[in-house]
Amino acid sequence: MSALLQTELGSLALLARGKVRDIYALSEQPESDLVFVATDRISAFDHVLGSGIPDKGKILTQLSLFWFDFLKDLAPNHLVTAEVREFPAGLQPYAEQLEGRTMIVRRARMFPVECVARGYLSGSGWKDYRTTGAVCGIALPSGLRESDKLPEPIFTPAAKVNTGGHDENISFTRVVETVGQETADRLRELTLAIYEKASEYAASRGVILADTKFEFGLIDGRIALADEVLTPDSSRYWPADQYRPGGPTPSFDKQYVRDYLESIGWNKRAPAPALPAEVVARTRDKYLQAYELLTRHRM
Ligand SMILES: Nc1ncnc2c1ncn2[C@@H]1O[C@H](COP(=O)(O)OP(=O)(O)OP(=O)(O)O)[C@@H](O)[C@H]1O
Ligand SMILES: [Mg+2]
Repeated sequence: MSALLQTELGSLALLARGKVRDIYALSEQPESDLVFVATDRISAFDHVLGSGIPDKGKILTQLSLFWFDFLKDLAPNHLVTAEVREFPAGLQPYAEQLEGRTMIVRRARMFPVECVARGYLSGSGWKDYRTTGAVCGIALPSGLRESDKLPEPIFTPAAKVNTGGHDENISFTRVVETVGQETADRLRELTLAIYEKASEYAASRGVILADTKFEFGLIDGRIALADEVLTPDSSRYWPADQYRPGGPTPSFDKQYVRDYLESIGWNKRAPAPALPAEVVARTRDKYLQAYELLTRHRM
């Protein structure tokens, strides 16, 4: 079993390599659809690690497809097709590389805002709360503990930081300044509605959706859900039976990786280390488990 760390699609123009995805233009038309390929790269502490997790890209893609379908009545999305045999002829020579991990998507004009919904106090939300009593300017009751459930889910947007590094939490006012009142209102409304529907479903599968991040963009002038959705990379999932408020809750997927990186005392600067085979295998199991729990399918 090997991990796919980087794709090569011959003459197709590579538009971007993100931390996880390789993104190509399907044709030379300026508005052409995108080939959106999830590799097996894994990042931690904002660095892509030296080892991949075999099949991770497939798992993320299949989970996103599950959720796009689940949410289709709430929000339009960027998916055109994920069936490799429906891809244009020029991509067929790469079918094996692309299988299961690739979506053809509409190119969206992305809003420069990460739309985060939080139902629980964790990560950067907990950090903000500890220092200011609020998250993204939303005041919260005093006395909350780490991982506590919030009185109601909140919209806590972040600004995309391009040069690696953490995204920065911003106030709703900043979102309004960036995209206008009407769009800001709609992004908040969509984010919270999707969070509510998805977290209710996840709970029925024994999983807490503590928080999650969406990216929206404009397609044909309409707000559409883009990027990946509700994957372990974009969301904080907790096994409900291990939920203990009052401290950090182990994340579903990357806990072994983070623990390992802490244990070797990596300084969190490039180059990021490779992972031992056992950490890779256990992490792969976690991604698979999240997929199987949430979708009730087997890979
Ligand atoms: N339909 C779309 N049209 C245009 N861009 C999109 C679309 N969907 C997602 N994107 C962008 O594609 C990229 C996805 O790649 P990936 O998830 O690997 O990046 P990332 O690590 O999250 O971000 P970064 O770009 O900072 O590396 C993101 O920058 C996202 O905003
Ligand atoms: Mg991403």
